[in-house]
Amino acid sequence: MRYRVEVHADAHTRLKAMAEDVLRGLGTRPRSLPPKYFYDAAGSRLFDEITRLPEYYLTRTEDALLDRLAPALMRALEPRDVVELGSGFSLKTRRLLEARGGGALRYTPVDVDETTVAASAERLLAEDPALQVHAIIGDFERHLVHVPAPSGRRLVLFLGSTIGNLDAPARQALLAQVRSLLHRGDRLLVGVDLVKDVAVLEAAYNDAAGVTAAFNRNILRVVNRSLGADFQPEAFRHHAWYNAAESRIEMHLVPETRQTVHIRSLDLTVRLEPSESIWTESSYKFTRASTRAMLAAAGLRLDAWHTDVDKRFALALAGPTSRAVAARAPRAA
Ligand code: SAH
Ligand code: TRP
Repeated sequence: MRYRVEVHADAHTRLKAMAEDVLRGLGTRPRSLPPKYFYDAAGSRLFDEITRLPEYYLTRTEDALLDRLAPALMRALEPRDVVELGSGFSLKTRRLLEARGGGALRYTPVDVDETTVAASAERLLAEDPALQVHAIIGDFERHLVHVPAPSGRRLVLFLGSTIGNLDAPARQALLAQVRSLLHRGDRLLVGVDLVKDVAVLEAAYNDAAGVTAAFNRNILRVVNRSLGADFQPEAFRHHAWYNAAESRIEMHLVPETRQTVHIRSLDLTVRLEPSESIWTESSYKFTRASTRAMLAAAGLRLDAWHTDVDKRFALALAGPTSRAVAARAPRAA
């Protein structure tokens, strides 16, 4: 059997977790919603559109870096086991897998969006007869314990600067878990967006076509559908700006006028003033030094650092140091 899929947390448990997250997020100031709820099928499609926008240099730059890097990396490492966090459409993974020149390999994508993972797995399997896919549908902050034992030398991928969507404590907790998936000789390849000119950064999250704004508002549609809420997505303005002190883009939804929102499943009414935005996402930006320090704190050593000529984006290759850092036990779902 070449395809196996494990779904972690059934629909009921997921709704319960979402209800708690939304209650906590809207109940505390500043109000916020967790970014993993952007990605229903419509959200994944909008994100895919974002990756092709002229202003959104990240995907294009990371793709080119991967193309350059893949042959030597795959030759040197010869992985037999590839685990990918937040795999999405697995487009970049395809380049890496192609560069290995055949050979048995097990691919373990970990992503919350089942539709996208299933479609991507089907395509990969059709193209690559030596491939096995063991998909894990779940939250990479909670369900990495379900990643099966390695089938050979392992490469863990965490691309697209998705790591930058977590704040520092969450990044450290996640990297410590990733560290525990690695043995000597295994590697982590992580994509990070770099600190740069503010205008370039802000343009990437404020595209002229308004796709990022639509993506941002999609989180309200997800909450409406899942929890029986009546947010009017169009009544919220997309606001994304670079907070230089924190090295992060912050994305917000700002009510144009006072909004009264009912959330049926929570039996909750929320009043939102134009002065109170909902913080939906951060996208942290890194330097080589901050990346090295983040890895080191999780027991990972920066082995190689690859950037494009304009130093916009970087791929960091890291291996486990001998000192194991205790991974925080993830909560079971
Ligand atoms: N790796 C792809 C996709 C990045 S988009 C690329 O580089 O283009 C981020 C992906 O991570 C989405 O597919 C989303 O569904 C997934 N994701 C976001 N938060 C997640 C979480 N907490 N657990 C699992 N998957 C998550
Ligand atoms: N990891 C991507 C990033 O931080 C995710 C992303 C891209 C994103 N565009 C977005 C998230 C717009 C929210 C809104 O760039």
